[in-house]
Amino acid sequence: MEYHNPVLLKETVDGLNIKPDGVYVDVTFGGGGHSREILKRLNDKGRLYAFDQDEDALNNAIDDERFVLIHENFRYIKRFLRFHGVKSVDGILADLGVSSHQFDVPERGFSTRFDAELDMRMSKRNDLSAYVVVNEYDDANLRRVFLDYGELKNAPALSRTIIEARTKKPIKTTDELKIVLSKYLPEKIKNKVLAQIYQAIRIEVNQEMEVLKEFLEQSLEILKPEGRLSVISYHSLEDRLVKRFMKNGMFEGEPERDFYGNFSVPFDLVGKLIVPDEEEIKVNNRARSAKLRIAEKK
Ligand SMILES: C[S@@+](CC[C@H](N)C(=O)[O-])C[C@H]1O[C@@H](n2cnc3c(N)ncnc32)[C@H](O)[C@@H]1O
Repeated sequence: MEYHNPVLLKETVDGLNIKPDGVYVDVTFGGGGHSREILKRLNDKGRLYAFDQDEDALNNAIDDERFVLIHENFRYIKRFLRFHGVKSVDGILADLGVSSHQFDVPERGFSTRFDAELDMRMSKRNDLSAYVVVNEYDDANLRRVFLDYGELKNAPALSRTIIEARTKKPIKTTDELKIVLSKYLPEKIKNKVLAQIYQAIRIEVNQEMEVLKEFLEQSLEILKPEGRLSVISYHSLEDRLVKRFMKNGMFEGEPERDFYGNFSVPFDLVGKLIVPDEEEIKVNNRARSAKLRIAEKK
């Protein structure tokens, strides 16, 4: 089975405005679709550093002298680039979320299609798993996860039901979780609600929002002037963070004003929001929620 079909491939890499001898980073290597496209556009002086925290992605490593694959979380992008002697770069690409491979391997626990142990860790080095979230989080935290990341209005009821069930015996598998929550999963909307519940747990397990913030802040530090940031997100909260950061250089509030009273912001936005066209969604259903934003550092 194909590891991952890259989303908005041309648009995302075009957004980097590649200089053939530049230094680029693909922080979400996955199956390497975007990385291969970047390499095509580099000459022998160009360099590409890629990150993936999932050891399965290492099997896709590209045999190319210009390429280095770093098996780490991109929340440490600055530290690991520095370790490789890189202090600043010409462009950074992030294609957030999980790969098709991660969804397609039943035992990873990401997919609503299979029964599996509650896991959902992108990296096996993580201590936090779906099991911990479901069996050890208190009511307030479970509600937060379902409400903030799943946008589930009945978050308090979901949380209460889980807590009640697990006092009798731990909830160990995705099927057990489905049974516990069955009264909130009427056939008509079952798949949609399950997808929201799973996505919420996954975002918590992998601390995706915190990681994204840390990454965006560091990306600003390591991009050279005129360096490009090209980010695809798949969740409205993610997209909001990316949008605000590209617009203001911060996640909350307003940036400072300069001497003339204009906002002093670190990026110029490049074009508008880009989403896949119907054709792409037809051949790659996982592209349907993708949102691409591009910015250039001043
Ligand atoms: C949507 S896929 C990227 C697919 C890739 N663009 C391609 O063309 O094959 C996201 C990948 O990023 C990895 N990933 C997600 N969050 C990460 C993080 N914080 N640090 C490192 N890798 C991460 C996942 O393990 C997954 O392989």
